[in-house]
Amino acid sequence: MKDNNKKKKVVITYGTYDMLHIGHINVLKRSKALGDYLIVGVTSEDFDRSRGKLGVFQNTAKRVKAIEKLGFVDKVIVERHQDQKAEDMVEYDVDIFAIGDDWVGKFDYLNEFTHVEYLPRTKGISSTELREERLETINLGIIGMGRDTERFIDEVKHVPAIQPTSLYDNDKKKVDKFIKTAPFKYGYDDFDTFLDSSIDAVFVDSSVDRHYNHISKALKAGKHVLAENPLALDKEEVADLQALAKKHKCLLLSALKTAFLPAFCQLLIQLQDGVIGDIKEVRATFTSLYKEKKYTEQFLKQGATNTMLSYPSLLITKVLGPRDSVTFFDQRHYGYDFSNRAITIHKDQTIGLATVATGMKSEGDAVISGTKGYVYIPAPWWLTKSFEFRFEDPNKSFTYNYEYEGNGLRYMISEFASLIQRGKKKSERLTPSDMREINDLIVEYNEQADRYPQGTV
Ligand code: CTP
Repeated sequence: MKDNNKKKKVVITYGTYDMLHIGHINVLKRSKALGDYLIVGVTSEDFDRSRGKLGVFQNTAKRVKAIEKLGFVDKVIVERHQDQKAEDMVEYDVDIFAIGDDWVGKFDYLNEFTHVEYLPRTKGISSTELREERLETINLGIIGMGRDTERFIDEVKHVPAIQPTSLYDNDKKKVDKFIKTAPFKYGYDDFDTFLDSSIDAVFVDSSVDRHYNHISKALKAGKHVLAENPLALDKEEVADLQALAKKHKCLLLSALKTAFLPAFCQLLIQLQDGVIGDIKEVRATFTSLYKEKKYTEQFLKQGATNTMLSYPSLLITKVLGPRDSVTFFDQRHYGYDFSNRAITIHKDQTIGLATVATGMKSEGDAVISGTKGYVYIPAPWWLTKSFEFRFEDPNKSFTYNYEYEGNGLRYMISEFASLIQRGKKKSERLTPSDMREINDLIVEYNEQADRYPQGTV
C-alpha cells in the first residue's frame, strides 16, 4: 500500500544564477533528481557583494523570475545573509544540500545540518564569461591626481568591466611622471583634448574648487561621472550638475565608498527589520590627523567639513532620511575649521550627530539608537566590516561580520561600472536625493561660516 504520509525528500541548492545558462540548468536538474522537492536559494545583490561577487548583471527579482520560469523548481527563496543556509536547512527540514563541485569542501560544515552533495559542474560556461563576452569594457579617464588616485587605480584592476585609459592633470610634469607608472595609454594637460579621447566615463579627483567645472564639462561631453565629494560648493551648482546628467543621459555618482561596502549595505537592510525598534538618533564620528600623515597645508585649508562631513552625513541620511534643520558647532584655526559638529533634526524629531575633525583625534565609531536597542559600529565605522546589535540584556547581543577585499574602493567602482553597463542612471545605494542632501549640508556650512565671525557659526 502506498504511504501518502511519507516525507518528501527535500533538496536545497544556492547560487547567483546571473544570465541563466545551461550550466545552471544542468545542476538544477541534477539537484532535483536527488529528491522529490527542490528549493533554490537565489543570492541577493548585497549578499553577493559581501562574498566578493562583483558586477552581477541582473537584479535579484529578474534572477528569481528566471528560475521560477524553468517550471521544475518547487520553491524559490532569496538568500540574504551569511547564517541563512543553516537556518533554511532547519526551517525546510532539508535532506540534501546540493552544489556544483567548484565548491568541493567549502560547505562540509553544513553536514552538521544535512547531507552535503557536490555535483559535477558543466565545463566551458560561466556567468563571468558571459558577462565579459556580452558587455563592453568601459574606458575610463581620470581627472586630477588627488589624495586617493593611486589607491583608486590599484582597485580598478579588480573590476574587469572598467579600464583606465586616459589621465588629465593641468600640471604636465605630473602627467608625464604618473603615466610612466600607471596603466594609462594617454596623458593630457589640456582638458578638452582629454575629453575628446576615446573615454566613456571619468573619475574626478581634482581639488574641490575645480569639481563643478570638471564635472559639468564631462557631462556635457556625454561622459558618465564618478566624482569625489563635495560635487560642488554651491546648491544651485549641485542641482545644475544633476540636471546636466539627466539631460545628457549620463550617470553622476558621488565617490562615497562607504555607501557601497558590503557590510554597510547589509546593515541598512537589517535595520529595516526593526530589531532595535524605532530609530531615534544616529551619531557618527570621523577624525584624521592628516598633518601627521604628511598631507599638505593646502589640503588642510579645505577644512574638516569639506573633506570629511560627507561620510557621517551619509550614514545619518541613509538611516534618518532628509533633515529639517541643522546647527553647526565648529572650531577654527587660521580661518579653516579643524573640527565641526553638525546636529541635524529629521522627521519625527529624530536626531543626527556628525563629528568631523582634522586637528583633533577621537574614537571613529558610530551608534544607531532605537527604542529597543542600538547598533554599534566600531572604528573606523566608515570602513564598515562588522556591526553589533546590542540590547538592555547584554546576552541578547549579536554581531555580523562582512569583510571587504582590498581597500574597499572596488565595490564603488564595480557599482559605477555595472550601472553604466545596465544603462541605469541612478544607484539605489546612493540616490540623487541622498547625494543632494549630503552635498547641501557642506554647502550650508560654508555659507554660514562666511556669514559669521571666526569660531562661531
Ligand atoms: N554551475 C555549474 N556549471 C557551470 C556554472 C555553474 O554546475 N558551468 C553551478 C555552480 O556550481 C552552482 C550553481 O551552478 O552550484 C550556481 O552557480 P553560479 O555561481 O551562480 O554560476 P557561475 O556561472 O559559476 O557564476 P560566476 O561565473 O559569476 O561565478
